[in-house]
Amino acid sequence: MSADIFEELHDEKTPPNYSWFNGKDWVSSTSGKFTSVISPIDHSIVGTVPIVTQDEIDASIKQAHLAQKAWQEKTLVDRGKILKLAADWMREHELYLTSLLVREIGKPVDEAKDEILRSADMIDYFGHEALHMTGEQIPSDAFPGYDKHKISIIERVPLGVILAIAPFNYPVNLAVSKLAPALVTGNSIIFKPPTSGAISGLHLTQIFRKAGVPDGVLTTVTGGGSEIGDYLVSHPGINMITFTGSSQVGQTAATKAGMIPLLFECGGNNPAIVIADCNPGTTAQEIVKGAFSFAGQRCTAIKYVLGLKPELDRILPMVVKITQETIHMGDPRSPETKSVGPLITESAAQEIEARIRMAEKMGAKIELGGVRQGNYLEPTILSAVTSDMEIVKIESFGPVVSFIEVKDMEEAIAIINSSTYGLQAAIYTCDEGTGLKIAEKLDVGTVWINSKPQRGPDHFPFLGIKGSGVGMQGIKYSLEAMTRLKPVILNKPE
Ligand code: G3H
Repeated sequence: MSADIFEELHDEKTPPNYSWFNGKDWVSSTSGKFTSVISPIDHSIVGTVPIVTQDEIDASIKQAHLAQKAWQEKTLVDRGKILKLAADWMREHELYLTSLLVREIGKPVDEAKDEILRSADMIDYFGHEALHMTGEQIPSDAFPGYDKHKISIIERVPLGVILAIAPFNYPVNLAVSKLAPALVTGNSIIFKPPTSGAISGLHLTQIFRKAGVPDGVLTTVTGGGSEIGDYLVSHPGINMITFTGSSQVGQTAATKAGMIPLLFECGGNNPAIVIADCNPGTTAQEIVKGAFSFAGQRCTAIKYVLGLKPELDRILPMVVKITQETIHMGDPRSPETKSVGPLITESAAQEIEARIRMAEKMGAKIELGGVRQGNYLEPTILSAVTSDMEIVKIESFGPVVSFIEVKDMEEAIAIINSSTYGLQAAIYTCDEGTGLKIAEKLDVGTVWINSKPQRGPDHFPFLGIKGSGVGMQGIKYSLEAMTRLKPVILNKPE
C-alpha cells in the first residue's frame, strides 16, 4: 500500500521502477539503466532505481550552486519551518516508512520504527539548535602590538554544495543526520542513498520536498558506488562530503576528495572491558544489546570483550544465557524477532562465517551460534579468541561477539590502542574512578562507562579517530561542521 505523497516517485508496475529526483522533478535517467533493490528477507525485488549518468550529476551540481545562493538568503526561521514540516510529515507516515525500511534492509520492526521516530526528533532538534547559532566579534588589542582599531566580525556561513552519502544500516536516520543540518544552515545537497536503502532515501527526499525545500536545493542521485560514487566524491563542484560507510570505502573516498572539508563516520569494531567489580547482570545485558542490535550491523556494536580469566568466567555464561533467552533470529517482520534478522547480503554473511571458521581453526571456541543459512547468521559468541584473529582484527558487520582473555588491564588497553579503528569503547566497573582512569588511556572517539556503545543521544558529540572517521557529528557539532567561520575585519578610523 502506498501513501499518497509518495505516488509520484514510481510507475505503477510491480515491482515499481522508481525515479531519481533531479532537484525539481521525479524523472527517469537518460542512461535507461536500473539497479534492483533486493529485500534481504526473501530476496524479492522491492523496486528498481535508476543509475544516473555523469552528465546528469554535472547538471545537478551546477543547478545546486545556483539554488544555494537564494536558499542562503532565506531567513533561518524560514528554513527551520521547512524542517519542522518535514519532521511532521515523517511522523504522519511513520507506519508506511517503517514497513518499507523493514522490507528494504531487513531491520526488525521495533528498531525500524525507532529509526523513523528518532529521525523526526532529530530534524526537529536541528531546527531548534540552528536558531541558537551565533557568530562573534574579537577586538584586536588583546594581541601585543595592536591597538583597538581592528575588529574581527565573524559570521557563520554555509559551505555551498554538500555531498551526503548514507549507509544501508540507517538509510533514513543517517541521511537525516546529514540533510537536516546541511539544509538548515543554507547549503544545497547532492544526496546519494545506499543501493540497499535507496527507496527509503527517495521517500525521505519527497518528505523534504513536500515540506517546501526549493528547486535545486536537494537532489537525490541513485546508482552504485562503482557507477557514480567515485565520480561524485572527486567532483570539483562539491564543497564538502559527509559520509557514513565502511573504513575501506571512506579511506578511498577521502583520498579522492582532495582538499575539502570531510565529515566521515566509518567502521567501529568496538571493544568492551570488563573489570572485576562490575555489576555482572548489567554488564552481561549491555554486552548482549551492544553485540546483537540490528544483527550487529551497527558501527557502534560491541565486537569483542576483554577481561581477566575470573571476570570472563563469570560474565560469558551470563551473556550466553541472556542471548538464548532474549535474542531471537528470524523474519524481521515478525514481532517475535528480536534484533537478529537477515544480514544485508549473503556474501556479507559468508564473509563473517569464514572468519568464524578461521578463528575456530586457530583455537577459538564457539559458545553459541556459528551457523549460517543463506544470509541469516545465528547470534554467535566466541571464546578463547586472540587479538591476532581476523574475526576481531577486521570489523565483522554481523551478530558476532568474541571474548579475549588478557593477563592485565595494560594488555587490554594495548590491544585496543593497536587497532586500526578508534570509534568507541565500553568499560564495565562499579568504580567510576577506575573507569575514568582507563578511559583516559584509550585511543577511541568516545568511551562509555557501564553502557553499551552507541551514537545517541543525538546531541552528544560523536566521532571516530584513526580508521573510524574524521570530523565531529552530533546536533550542534554537525551544524558547525556544515558551516565555516567568515571573519570580516573592520579597521576603524582613528
Ligand atoms: O552504524 C552506525 C551508527 O551511527 C550507529 O548508530 O549507535 O544509534 O545504532 P547507533
